[in-house]
Amino acid sequence: GNKVSIGLLGLGVVGSGVIKLIENHQEKLVHQLGTDVQVKSVLVRNIDKQRDVDVDRTFLTTNPDDVLNDPEIDIVIEVMGGIEEARKHILNAFANKKHVVTANKDLVALHGPELQEAARKNKCDFYYEASVAGGIPILRGITDGLSSDRIRKVMGIVNGTTNYILTKMDKEGLSYDVALKQAQELGFAEADPTSDVEGLDAARKMAILARLAFSMNVDLDDVEVTGISDITLEDMNYADQLGYTMKLIGFANFDDRKLEVNVQPTMLAKNHPLASVNDEYNAVYVYGDAVGETMFYGPGAGSLPTATAITSDVVSVIKNMLLGVTGSQYLDPHFNKQLKTEEQ
Ligand code: HSE
Repeated sequence: GNKVSIGLLGLGVVGSGVIKLIENHQEKLVHQLGTDVQVKSVLVRNIDKQRDVDVDRTFLTTNPDDVLNDPEIDIVIEVMGGIEEARKHILNAFANKKHVVTANKDLVALHGPELQEAARKNKCDFYYEASVAGGIPILRGITDGLSSDRIRKVMGIVNGTTNYILTKMDKEGLSYDVALKQAQELGFAEADPTSDVEGLDAARKMAILARLAFSMNVDLDDVEVTGISDITLEDMNYADQLGYTMKLIGFANFDDRKLEVNVQPTMLAKNHPLASVNDEYNAVYVYGDAVGETMFYGPGAGSLPTATAITSDVVSVIKNMLLGVTGSQYLDPHFNKQLKTEEQ
């Protein structure tokens, strides 16, 4: 009948959010698309695990083929995390002509161009809005909203854990260790918070943002990174006295010749739009020649906010399917050409 079937790889915090959102917003989805959207099967490691979402056990499977090889499934959502297994499943999905939506920032930062190319070859859609800044539609903002402008600079607070730590040190005088512990308890820190506090998580997101903002290949190794683990309360007080706020900022600057991408603790003037982005919130500031200053603000993590980004990608895929224009992605079709020009 008139329905689109989805397969889910992973059922953690984000996967559960996707199931809830698709169910709770079904009316809105049907109204927009004129078709039902249903999750048909979900790959999990352990079928018997207790979960905070109601799913029919018959939907759950431990066999990836039940998702990747089911001819009824049109779209695969990858929310399992990790690199190699997720990469293998996504390449398989494309080989089986399934569109893919992923939230996997580590994977997109490391292997984005390869996956993009596999999608293009198989005429499949590939979207990953949730991989950067959770619920903020920043990839669309850059690739759609600002596609006609020449972007000069992107500055981002794209890691909630470090922004939370710095905010608590600054506003409440908490020590670094206590603030980190609170961030972990609130659940937005990575399993190993080293990648948060040492800036690697932010670097991955900046690599993705810079690729899209400037249509250039950016490897993770191209991003210079300094984290916040050496920042002391004295540093914060000193910055404060001079009229500055300490933030972990990702920069991507393009001056017509050279693209520079880095992540570092930065003293921001208190009147900079990013200086008042506090707690675990994320924001991305984009400067374009024609538009001037813009800023996108919102939740950078969390089950339902991240699920909105994923499900909106699914809506884009279904619209493309209805229009018969599959093969769409955030990157422009000349990305690889420009990449070559860049290397010459
Ligand atoms: N650990 C990440 C953060 C989660 O703190 O922002 C969202 O990617």
